[in-house]
Amino acid sequence: MTGSLSTGSLSTAALPPGLFWDADRGRLKVRDPRLAEIALRDPHIITGVDHGKSAGAGTPPPLGQAPTITEFFELWYTVGPRYQQFNTELRKVFTVRAVAPFEPAMRAQATRAAAALPPAGDLARDYLSPYLMHSTFLLLGVPEPEWPRLTKVARLVIHLFKQQLLGVTGHGPREAAAFATAMHYLEQLTGRLLTGPGEEPFLLAARRLAGLDPGPWPIAALIGQLLMAGIEPMIVGSSIACRDIWSTPRLRTALLTGTVAAADLAEEVLRQHPPFGNIFRFVVQPCTCLGVPLPAGTIVAIDVAAVNLHTTPAADPAHGCPVRTGEVLTFGKGTHYCLGSHSARLQVATGLDRLVHEQPGLRIDGEGTRIDTHNNLKEVRAVPYRIGPGA
Ligand code: HEM
Repeated sequence: MTGSLSTGSLSTAALPPGLFWDADRGRLKVRDPRLAEIALRDPHIITGVDHGKSAGAGTPPPLGQAPTITEFFELWYTVGPRYQQFNTELRKVFTVRAVAPFEPAMRAQATRAAAALPPAGDLARDYLSPYLMHSTFLLLGVPEPEWPRLTKVARLVIHLFKQQLLGVTGHGPREAAAFATAMHYLEQLTGRLLTGPGEEPFLLAARRLAGLDPGPWPIAALIGQLLMAGIEPMIVGSSIACRDIWSTPRLRTALLTGTVAAADLAEEVLRQHPPFGNIFRFVVQPCTCLGVPLPAGTIVAIDVAAVNLHTTPAADPAHGCPVRTGEVLTFGKGTHYCLGSHSARLQVATGLDRLVHEQPGLRIDGEGTRIDTHNNLKEVRAVPYRIGPGA
């Protein structure tokens, strides 16, 4: 981020409707769809990426060496010098057409996970997490024998990334050792995927991208990034949808009788309760694009739920989503529009549909369900459930 924070003027300025100064957090909140659109496409207001805290950020480690935790996160393609090449290849992998053929295998995974549910437990841990993890591995072309170890790597990367967001950069010897083991495995797995027989669109793209730089790390980091970016928000979105479905009997009936498709119901739930509360941007050049002078360094927080509901208020999810997909901000907008929006929608919808049909005796304890909205990505703490006549 460039420029020093001199946002004092904003705290006293008369702001146009749809803009609010959040004095506690020192950010400009955007709650109007028109202004959100401008902020997300404006060249003066850039994505919340800190291009390289250390020298050589984004540069793969020398051959034979693994990255440190910080270096690993700096290898994310979205913050690196190869963004354009990676983005061009990856967008082809995640189109509606490219992800649709995975639907039967996703259904099979969801059915399997639903059938394996213990009689009581936590739905996020026992169903959503394994199903969403495995269906993502399918998309990435990871062979099934690798799933248990890759699940552990994904959990560790997600945990460390959340710590990074909270400003925790020091790690104890146990965490450092676990990370080193995870990196060793990820490096070997990447090698096997790149030279193996798999022909999934992701693997074909990964092989093309692997030629850009020597060594396995850009692709290993890409696999880590995709696991980190998608699984948690899908668990959050699905958990909220499950809570709503099982607390409102007519929603479950609508799904069971087919009067609403799971995808349409999920779209409306995600419009009302987006997993990411805000989309962040930073002003890099002073501008007046939002109708008020913005100093460089201003943090802009686009309030996703407020924008989603600004023109069309919350509707009954039993009737699906009342607005067009392009008007919903849940998956972002513009250049950085969510890479996995189509696969996430398909995975979430398939998971909900299978659960409703495969487990008619399931009940969710709505009172005991805990979804923490404190951080920008909502966090599922507990979704207690029971199955059976006493549920
Ligand atoms: C319900 C699930 C998901 C939600 C709500 C979600 C939401 C978002 C949002 C709001 C953005 C835009 C961020 C910005 O503009 O700053 C984004 C970007 C991104 N998402 Fe997702 N996402 C989900 C699932 C996924 C999945 C499954 C993947 C992986 C396949 C994924 C990969 C990405 C990537 C790589 C970006 C950055 C794209 C870029 O900068 O070009 N997301 N996501």
